[in-house]
Order: sequence, then structure tokens, then C-alpha cells
Amino acid sequence: MSPVSCTTQARQQLPAGLDWLTTGERERLEGFRFDKRRRDWLLGRWAAKVALLRISGLARSDISRFEIDSAPNGAPVPRLDGRPYPVGLSLSHSHDRAFSAVSKEAVALGCDIEWVEPRSDVFVETYFTESERTDVDAADPSDRDALITKIWSAKESTLKALQTGLQADTRSVEVVDNGDRACKGWGIARTIVRDAGEFSCLWRLGDDFVLTIAVRGAAEAPDEY
Ligand SMILES: CC(C)(COP(=O)(O)OP(=O)(O)OC[C@H]1O[C@@H](n2cnc3c(N)ncnc32)[C@H](O)[C@@H]1OP(=O)(O)O)[C@@H](O)C(=O)NCCC(=O)NCCS
Repeated sequence: MSPVSCTTQARQQLPAGLDWLTTGERERLEGFRFDKRRRDWLLGRWAAKVALLRISGLARSDISRFEIDSAPNGAPVPRLDGRPYPVGLSLSHSHDRAFSAVSKEAVALGCDIEWVEPRSDVFVETYFTESERTDVDAADPSDRDALITKIWSAKESTLKALQTGLQADTRSVEVVDNGDRACKGWGIARTIVRDAGEFSCLWRLGDDFVLTIAVRGAAEAPDEY
């Protein structure tokens, strides 16, 4: 099995009840004021717990033993039976889908799901490096939206792996190689981070969504289910 497992879960896959949450998670859910945040948070927790079950080998009935807390910087923190669970975990939500990736070891890992939509030239000029802008300019117009979304998503995944999120300058991360290599339906690109080395960046396009996973070191296609 690949050391990274990932899953995409759609709104319709959410269980009707909340018995898969811990007491602490149910209290947290109660505290959200906005319905969209509540829905995104819930679907993200569900996807993360499905991924954790897969990598742990535990049964569906064990799902509420997992808790996904949040660090002060917003990063997800997995626990099993209230104790730290030493894996790499990341999650993302977009347009009634949630995507989560988990690595068996506690390596730096970030994932992202983005809906493919048109983005302006100003967006590219503001957030992309010169070399990324060159790649976008060279792209076939029919591939432009997907390429921009992919580069953006790879940056987000990498910044999640570094736990800085978008507080960092998105131009401090450069997406290179752009997925010339492919493995089991996933492209493999690289991201180079100013002062923080390189990440492998797995990406896949499907269903008008781009999925990316940034992981420190070499990567192989994830176990996706
Ligand atoms: C991380 C960030 C890029 C996510 O971007 P987004 O496109 O809005 O959202 P996504 O759906 O792709 O990802 C959201 C998930 O990223 C994770 N996340 C949030 N901050 C993170 C961080 N610093 N590092 C790693 N992962 C983080 C969380 O699991 C979050 O989902 P949750 O809040 O439901 O648990 C963005 O939230 C950000 O830049 N945050 C900066 C840090 C910040 O402002 N923290 C506020 C303290 S709570």
C-alpha cells in the first residue's frame, strides 16, 4: 500500500447522524455561527476520519475514537482515544466536496481540493512567480483554467504542509516540472519553497476539480478510495 492514503467525500456521503463525532467535536460544531462553515467543517471531519480509518486499519465502528482537533494556526490535529495520533493529516473542502490525505508517518503533508474556474490575469500576476506565469502563457487556451487551478492548489497544499497557510507569500513557493511524470492517474510535480527545500506534489484532475497533495521527499501515487 502507498504510504499516503486519500479520499474525496461528497455531501451525499455524510451519515445522517452525528454519532461518528466525539463529544468535543459535537460541542465545536454547535459553536459555528454560519451554516456554510458548519457544513464544510463537518464534511472535512468526515473525509479525514474515513482516511484515518483506512490508514489505521480500524473498523467503521471505531470512527468516533478519532478526533480531529485544530492547532492554534488552524492545522488539523488527529487524536485517537484522546491521545495524539502520529500521522501526517491534511484536509480541504470545496463546493460540497471534501478531500483528505493521510500519511502513515508524521511527515509534512498538505492537501487541497479546488473547483476549476476561470481566474483573471491579475490573479496570475499577483500570486504566481515569473516562471509559473511563463507556463500559463505557454498553455493551450483550453488548458489555461485547469493549469492555473493546479498551480494555485499545489501552492496551497505546500503551504499547508509547512503549516503557514496563505499567511506566507504564495510566490515563496514555485511549482516546477508541472507533472510531466505520471503514476496511476496522478501527475507528479515538484514545489520549491524559498528557504524550506522541496516537496513532491501529486495532482489529479477529474470532475472539474483539481486535487493536490504535497509531501516532503519522493512520492508515489496515493492509495485513493
Ligand atoms: C490554510 C488555508 C490556506 C486554507 O485555505 P482554504 O482554501 O480557505 O480552505 P481549504 O478548505 O483548502 O482548507 C481548510 C483546512 O485547512 C486546514 N488548515 C487551516 N490552517 C492551516 C495551517 N496553518 N496549516 C495547515 N492546514 C491548515 C484546516 O484543516 C482547514 O479546515 P478546517 O478548519 O475545517 O479544519 C487558509 O485557511 C489560511 O491561509 N490560513 C492561514 C492561517 C490562519 O489564518 N489561521 C487562522 C487561525 S484559525
